[in-house]
Amino acid sequence: MRIFLTLAAFFFAAPAMAEHHEAAPVTPVTIVIHGGAGALAPGRYSPEEEAAFRAKLNEALDAGYAVLESGGAALDAVEAAIVLMEDAPMFNAGKGAVFTRKGKNELDSSIMDGATLNAGAVAGVTRVKNPIKLARAVMEKSDHVMFARDGAEKFARENGLELVKPSYFKTEHRWKAYKRALKAEKENQKDAALFHDFKYGTVGAVALDAEGNLAAGTSTGGMMMKRYGRVGDTPIIGAGTFADNKSCAVSSTGWGEYFIRLTIARDICAQVEYQGKTVEEAADDVIHHRLQDMGADGGVIVLAPDGSYAMTFNSKGMFRGVKNAEEQIIAIYGEEE
Ligand code: GLY
Repeated sequence: MRIFLTLAAFFFAAPAMAEHHEAAPVTPVTIVIHGGAGALAPGRYSPEEEAAFRAKLNEALDAGYAVLESGGAALDAVEAAIVLMEDAPMFNAGKGAVFTRKGKNELDSSIMDGATLNAGAVAGVTRVKNPIKLARAVMEKSDHVMFARDGAEKFARENGLELVKPSYFKTEHRWKAYKRALKAEKENQKDAALFHDFKYGTVGAVALDAEGNLAAGTSTGGMMMKRYGRVGDTPIIGAGTFADNKSCAVSSTGWGEYFIRLTIARDICAQVEYQGKTVEEAADDVIHHRLQDMGADGGVIVLAPDGSYAMTFNSKGMFRGVKNAEEQIIAIYGEEE
């Protein structure tokens, strides 16, 4: 009898023991970034310029992925990648931002934590070196979600963020583009290429960390020649940025007025959550149908809790990249990956 009980215990216990020893599923830590969508066709940049864009995108991916690989939080990875792009003069965010109609640089940014749905955003700042850091400080150190202009800068000072002179953001190539736009406007000309480019340029990142948490962040100088007080989609939670562990994380780039009206980022995550779509299907619907049908363009990066991702745009190109344990991809033009 004792032998029978021992054998029975072994056979019944064995599967349970086997289950106990099964490895826990590993979260596929991933970062996806963009450096803006627009009229990006081969030949637009010199080989040297193109190489510089690709190198900086790789650097931003590496910075964000290093955080994730060492067990860091998705929010930290997003911030690390965006800071690098804000500091790089070639992107329309931080240093290198486009000029307003009055010849100023006014910056917008936002960040969101998919684990808690906490979010922070700033609009129209002119002296904060890294607006993404300020957006995060708003999320973590205030009771509010968004601060604008003077108030945002007062909050930045009170919280020890690095402030710079407004001239820090000025770059020669943006100044020349601004002067060309002023001239074209004065002469009542339609400089099609330039006017098309008015609407683009933004940087963003979405990340998935080892704890399974998602985060998203976006930063921009907005639209060139924007009027007094104009705010685009970038600091609007649900338009420029959204993250929820239940569905996905999104960062947008494109013609802000349309991204606000279509609540692009939230719509993608809602389709994933309520309709069971993949991130690719949801991004495809929102960008290639809803946005396209309104006659606007731009793009999104989207990341799901299982590590699946989409980099979707209906403009000619989008600076973009992804890094996970299996791949590191950088692309600029359509159909490049
Ligand atoms: N998507 C950036 C802006 O419209 O301001």
